Amino acid sequence: MLNNNFMDIFQTIEKRKSIRSYSEKVVSNEIIEKVISAGRDAPTSCNLQLTEYIIVNDSVLKSILAKKITGKFNWAPTFIIFLYDSRFAIKRSAAVVSLGAAMQNINLASTALGLVTCPMAGFNEDKTLKKILNIPEYYNVGLIMSIGYDSNTEKKIDTKKRSISSIYHYNLFNKPKDSLNDSLDLNKWSFKELVSYRSRLAPVYFYPGRYNLSTYDPAQYSDVYKTLSTNIDLTGKDLIDLFSYDCSFAKVVAEKNDIKTIAVSDIIEHTLKTFEVNFPSTKKHLFTSFNKLHVDDMSYDVATFVHKAEFTPKINNVLKEVHRILKPGGILFTVTTYPSIALRIADWFRSFKIRFKGSTMNVYEHNKFYKIGPVKYLASNLLDMICKKEGFVKKKSGSERVGNKIFYTNRYWALYDKK
Ligand SMILES: Cc1cc2nc3c(=O)[nH]c(=O)nc-3n(C[C@H](O)[C@H](O)[C@H](O)COP(=O)(O)O)c2cc1C
Repeated sequence: MLNNNFMDIFQTIEKRKSIRSYSEKVVSNEIIEKVISAGRDAPTSCNLQLTEYIIVNDSVLKSILAKKITGKFNWAPTFIIFLYDSRFAIKRSAAVVSLGAAMQNINLASTALGLVTCPMAGFNEDKTLKKILNIPEYYNVGLIMSIGYDSNTEKKIDTKKRSISSIYHYNLFNKPKDSLNDSLDLNKWSFKELVSYRSRLAPVYFYPGRYNLSTYDPAQYSDVYKTLSTNIDLTGKDLIDLFSYDCSFAKVVAEKNDIKTIAVSDIIEHTLKTFEVNFPSTKKHLFTSFNKLHVDDMSYDVATFVHKAEFTPKINNVLKEVHRILKPGGILFTVTTYPSIALRIADWFRSFKIRFKGSTMNVYEHNKFYKIGPVKYLASNLLDMICKKEGFVKKKSGSERVGNKIFYTNRYWALYDKK
């Protein structure tokens, strides 16, 4: 039974968080109706009330959707599909904005009732979804939302919210201090800008409950580890992983127990906290600028820099720091995506062909910094040049192709000795 012991609105707003792991408990029809009525009562453009909802709680149907649309349909026992009637063209995306208002009413009503939710636009295959759910052509899918009871298994790390003073302007627009840099030229990004961007993204992609969601295929990282360990004996070594980012490679390394110490490092604390939850005995080091990694001189035998150089600005400064923290005779192991400019061009044509066939990788792919932020093209010869300049001597190198027939990566690996 519903009771009237509801939370204060500000408490509710503060309490609401996007939650991605749910208990098995099914949401009753009574509660569904209550939250949908909160959605219905939201403001709508011209009072047209174009938003409609499909409640999906049938387990067979959910497993079909999980297979054909997105694995996110496995997260919760119940989902709400938000639709809007697209026949009524309204300026300023008013139908979508109205749907958003309904979404937030449902989020808050659910929170007040002790439930948790996660709105999601990160899925593809709208046509298939519409076909499976028997949705007429002229309805668009605006969102899917998981709704249910918190499993309390997720270690929650706060999402980064901007400061209040940076998001409002009195009368005239003042460029906020934490506004995003949209330059594709990585070296135009300041350390602070990169930290700000990555801190916003990190709680979405790199939180403990989602640990397996990595930027790269974990199998690829096992492969990289094999390359590393067949080229040097890691037994008893102290190893630091540079810019651990989503920690995928560090995770593979940490699972091998022949290494004495494994340390992760990054420019945001979030990454390090994520790793702490999964591998409590590893050391964590923060870069507080590209010139400053909080590690004593000559602390490590091996530094790994795997597929991270591509999105590291001021890489010379980083490598200078690496040189400082490596013991005499220490080794730097790098992996970068492109062994040569010719392969980069070939890849560009290949991706064109994939797109031409109508394949999209993700709904967010028009965001040029999706998931990993700004990326630069860094061919092996450039990386070699920079390493040489910063006091490393190349010992060994090679190139490989990893992945399946369509989505493969070319990669170049190299081992350098500290001079
Ligand atoms: C329109 C919209 C789409 C979203 N899509 C996804 C999604 O596809 N997957 C996901 O895990 N979270 C998604 N979210 C949740 C956001 O990641 C989340 O709101 C954000 O990280 C802030 O965290 P908080 O909701 O806990 O405050 C979406 C949120 C909105 C408003």
